[in-house]
Amino acid sequence: MRATAKAQPNIALIKYWGKRDVDKNLPAVSSLSVTLDTLWTKMTVEFSDTRKSDDLIVNRASNQVLLPRVSACLDHIAGVDRRRASIVSEGNFPIAAGLASSASAFAALVVAASKASGACHDNLALARIAGAASGSAARSLFGGFVELAAGETCIDVATIADASDWPLSVIVAITEEGAKPISSGEAMNRSAETSPFYTSWLEQQAGDLAAARAAVLARDFAALAAVSEHNCLKMHSVMWGSRPPVIYWNSATLSCMEAVRRLQTDGHAVFFTIDAGPQLKAICLPGEAAEVRATLEACAGVIRTMESGLGAGAILLDSK
Ligand code: PMV
Repeated sequence: MRATAKAQPNIALIKYWGKRDVDKNLPAVSSLSVTLDTLWTKMTVEFSDTRKSDDLIVNRASNQVLLPRVSACLDHIAGVDRRRASIVSEGNFPIAAGLASSASAFAALVVAASKASGACHDNLALARIAGAASGSAARSLFGGFVELAAGETCIDVATIADASDWPLSVIVAITEEGAKPISSGEAMNRSAETSPFYTSWLEQQAGDLAAARAAVLARDFAALAAVSEHNCLKMHSVMWGSRPPVIYWNSATLSCMEAVRRLQTDGHAVFFTIDAGPQLKAICLPGEAAEVRATLEACAGVIRTMESGLGAGAILLDSK
């Protein structure tokens, strides 16, 4: 059977950085994100009785690098004795560049594979399977504002406010289209082993998460902005304090950050966040989006910008 699903990346406001269990890929901290709507990945999975091995095509090119993670994820969905599959992925934004492409890819993959294999997992079960492949992918099964609670043995994931409850805009400033120098998984492990700031990062996460959750539920933009920027900069401080250091920013990332800070000084409702890559994401009230976008586009080193509202979780597009 064959099925196609679509998922959007999500941007964490309270970040996941560090693993409780590396083998199971269980996060050490809880996180809170927003799911986007205009950036997407579509995945088609087709199981076949005659196929001898899995085959992965990403954006029209064969991809051997991602294939083992994709195959392991299919084993989780359909069992290790499953039929082999053809997997075709297509997206409208750069991959492996700190834009959460693995989040939308694995979220779409689990929805398509579950349907194509007839496994019938519910959304939380799919989120747990996607999360085992890419921690942030678990959040893209859900729409709007999404909280992921990191438990001792498993995660829980749920929407805490829908996209329509509090429409926000996200402007992504792309400063580098190439793949990042070090994967987030490897960088997290290095941080846990070597960064002197890692333990305090873990200790403070529950407080940041509670502040962000309260801000979302109260629709308090200033409070959400303050805790989100603080949490982002702490995560990058943990990375910078690692040995060797993990530095994803470039000079354009810093120019964008300064531009956002100038907009804030001028009274605009906008804040920034940055993930495992040099792209800056500005979150703002929808009425501010045009000015924020124009300001970021004018920053030295910005290649282009993308704009998105908040969107829904992964969905099945078709199956036969
Ligand atoms: O899901 P991963 O392994 O790609 O890690 C994501 C890490 C960050 O994007 C930096 C933070 C997050 O919570 O998404």
